[in-house]
Amino acid sequence: MTTAPKQLHLAAHFPGVNSTTVWADPRSRSQIDFSSFEHLARTAERGLFDFFFLAEGLRLREHNGLIHDLDVVGRPESLTVLNALAAVTDRLGLAATVNATFNEPFELARRLATLDHLSAGRAGWNVVTSSDAFTGENFRRGGYLDRAERYTRAAEFVATARELWDSWTPDGTPRTFAHHGEHFSIEGEFTLPRPPQGHPVVIQAGDSPECCEFAASAADVIFTRHGTLEAGRAFYADVKGRLAKYGREPDELKIMPGVGFVLGDTDAEAREKAAEIRLQQVSPQNAMLALEQVWGRDLSSYDPDGPLPETDPVPDSELVQGRVRHGDPLAVATRWRALSREKGFSIRQTVIEATTRQSFIGSPRTVAAELAEFVAAGAADGFVLVPHLTPGGLDDFVDEVVPLLQERGVFRAAYTGSTLRSHLGLAEPVWKG
Ligand SMILES: Cc1cc2nc3c(=O)[nH]c(=O)nc-3n(C[C@H](O)[C@H](O)[C@H](O)COP(=O)(O)O)c2cc1C
Repeated sequence: MTTAPKQLHLAAHFPGVNSTTVWADPRSRSQIDFSSFEHLARTAERGLFDFFFLAEGLRLREHNGLIHDLDVVGRPESLTVLNALAAVTDRLGLAATVNATFNEPFELARRLATLDHLSAGRAGWNVVTSSDAFTGENFRRGGYLDRAERYTRAAEFVATARELWDSWTPDGTPRTFAHHGEHFSIEGEFTLPRPPQGHPVVIQAGDSPECCEFAASAADVIFTRHGTLEAGRAFYADVKGRLAKYGREPDELKIMPGVGFVLGDTDAEAREKAAEIRLQQVSPQNAMLALEQVWGRDLSSYDPDGPLPETDPVPDSELVQGRVRHGDPLAVATRWRALSREKGFSIRQTVIEATTRQSFIGSPRTVAAELAEFVAAGAADGFVLVPHLTPGGLDDFVDEVVPLLQERGVFRAAYTGSTLRSHLGLAEPVWKG
């Protein structure tokens, strides 16, 4: 008896504000106009994707005290965008990144429940906690939480939101709720009946041990950076192994790395295109910015085509503000220097090599085969695709790769359900009234 191949899940990341989008490409459009969001969402729905995904940044990035101006800045508020997209799509899941450090459970639970009702069960919430003091200055409470506390607050936040979503009776009668915990002490009546999905899908973006533990206890999906086959398998085994202690089955948490892709008529052509795209994404100025972010000091006297600095990074530097930092600066600098020594790379070449996210590069047939292999090999349950063009970057993938995934029997030929939970194969949560 042959068993059906494991199905893969796909999500579309709106590239938005950063240098992922090749802004100099004449096909690039606004990151703010509704038409851009609509284009990418409609394309994702045409491709039968599980969900559309928006990232969040709550303060404009700064470099050396100035607003970052190498690529575009400024983006609209995510849940508002998703409510608008709910009106022009029918099945596509709609997921927004919303911070748990700077919001309050009652208000955010209400806004997420609203999206779930308006979209008939398609809402997803990517819970992030970034709480650097720089971002915190925009908020009443400031950057007042250390890292461990951010995650205890986030865990209590999600649990409280779920209590609010469950607070009405199954026959639609409002009931009072009361939550008294370490971070929140609230009582009252929630303003909406239970959302169509029970609870909107909870996503967790991150890969620190605190993130993974939180995800294992409370999330439905992890959005991660672990993209290579080996790193992906280790991460997958680690996270899935944490579920049992929370009484959960491995299938109850989907692991979806964020990945890039470049298609060509042949593998060689795609590789050439990919190299060209990376050169455009990592301009000489962007390479220096990435370097200064790690080193935390002004390195303007260095040549992007020359060697890396010999000095060590400044700890806790505030030179670059408002960007997510991945890893301890000294460890990153040591890795980058070793890479540059080993391959004879300049600053720019090192940044390109070290910061390229996992990408699937090749003809549509090669890319479809590799995506399927990742999932079959237990390195992921699916992917959050990050296109390099706003908003048309998914068009070719949907036209050329999706049919090949369907042909291989690893991707749906039609939506079989109408909610995001059903696309992801996740059960409706038990109603804890
Ligand atoms: C793939 C990925 C996407 C992320 N997207 C966002 C985002 O859109 N907004 C945000 O504030 N943080 C985002 N983060 C940051 C995480 O929430 C987290 O703060 C970061 O991974 C650092 O981990 P730590 O907070 O445990 O130190 C993202 C992280 C990863 C790995």
